[in-house]
Amino acid sequence: MVKQKHIDTRLGHLSLDPMSNYGIPNPPIYRTSTILSSSFAEYRGDVTMPYTYGRNGTPTSAAFEGAIAEIYDADSCISAPSGLAAITTALLAFTKAGDHMMFPDSLYGSSRRFVSQMLPAMGVAVEFYPPRINDGIEAYIKPETTLIYVESPGSLTFELQDLPAIVAAARRQKVTATSITIMVDNTWGTALHYPVLSLGADVVVEAATKYICGHSDISLGIAAASGAHGKALRKTMTNLGICAGPDDLYAGLRGLRTLRLRLEKSEENGLYLANKLNAHPMVLDVLHPGLPTSPDYPIYERDFSGSCGLFAFILPNNLPQEALDKAIEEMDIFAIGASWGGYESLIKQAHHEITQRNFAPSHEDGYLVRVYAGLENKDDLWADLERMLTTFAES
Ligand SMILES: Cc1ncc(COP(=O)(O)O)c(C=O)c1O
Repeated sequence: MVKQKHIDTRLGHLSLDPMSNYGIPNPPIYRTSTILSSSFAEYRGDVTMPYTYGRNGTPTSAAFEGAIAEIYDADSCISAPSGLAAITTALLAFTKAGDHMMFPDSLYGSSRRFVSQMLPAMGVAVEFYPPRINDGIEAYIKPETTLIYVESPGSLTFELQDLPAIVAAARRQKVTATSITIMVDNTWGTALHYPVLSLGADVVVEAATKYICGHSDISLGIAAASGAHGKALRKTMTNLGICAGPDDLYAGLRGLRTLRLRLEKSEENGLYLANKLNAHPMVLDVLHPGLPTSPDYPIYERDFSGSCGLFAFILPNNLPQEALDKAIEEMDIFAIGASWGGYESLIKQAHHEITQRNFAPSHEDGYLVRVYAGLENKDDLWADLERMLTTFAES
């Protein structure tokens, strides 16, 4: 479908070719390891074949990856069996001994574990930078710097990063444009709300587990890029033997069809709850870059066309931890759990998860509670949260 059409129209038609499949719109699920050759010329690769071995790609993976590449306007995309696997594969594509790589201090916890525990063993110097450093990043760049990683907003504390300023600083420092790779985890913004490749990033990674699949039943990841970056992703995926299962890839492609509707509903519910919390006397701070009261709002308005249902708020920690545990455990709709992007609302406490950070977070001190607003009725969700706050206050 032509690129000039609105992305919402394209979402409904990406990777469809019904007339090559008996008129059936959705591409079939190909489950295979073996792909037969009709001759040894084919088997040896003397004749180029579109697919050679299940792990290396099938029409099912090509349909999903092609759709993601298109919505990011990238020429290449790889898929992986989880968001974390996509992130680690993408990082390994640009890793060599002697490199210096920089990561925001608000990095997603499992990504932080990988870069802290695995990259140094490969001879990489890993440095964390304050998430709101923006063009001050220039002072951190060394001659050996090869990669700057961005996650905007950051996990749990939701600081935005000034991606264009970081890109500009990196390009100023290194005249050969490709020598510092800018990689962005765009799971929060998605291709619909945060066009990170158009803003200058080289590689985008996303946990398709969240909004793309959208029903809390699939683990899937993507990494997309163009040119040499795209080729490096594919080569690393092949070398590592990374491949997502065909049923999950099919579910990912199907999820894209309704992504806009689910994302917008979750975003609307999230903003509704965040505004209510902002006005509640018990709440010390609301960490949501889409609120005009957020210090990141100018960046949000400039670079994002929307938000999502994931944010956090701060409660006073002069009341006992057990009181907060109990108030949340007694909630009716919100369930205690990690992950997000599905249909159901989730809540968790996260103050104990940010203790390993190098820089003090800039929000008010207190209990950090993360909320994922799902697709339920927003007044029911607020009633549940308000009751929880009352129970906590009265404990
Ligand atoms: C920002 C972010 N990136 C990546 C991931 C990893 O995704 P997955 O759970 O599919 O490995 C998560 C999961 O919570 C996440 O929140």
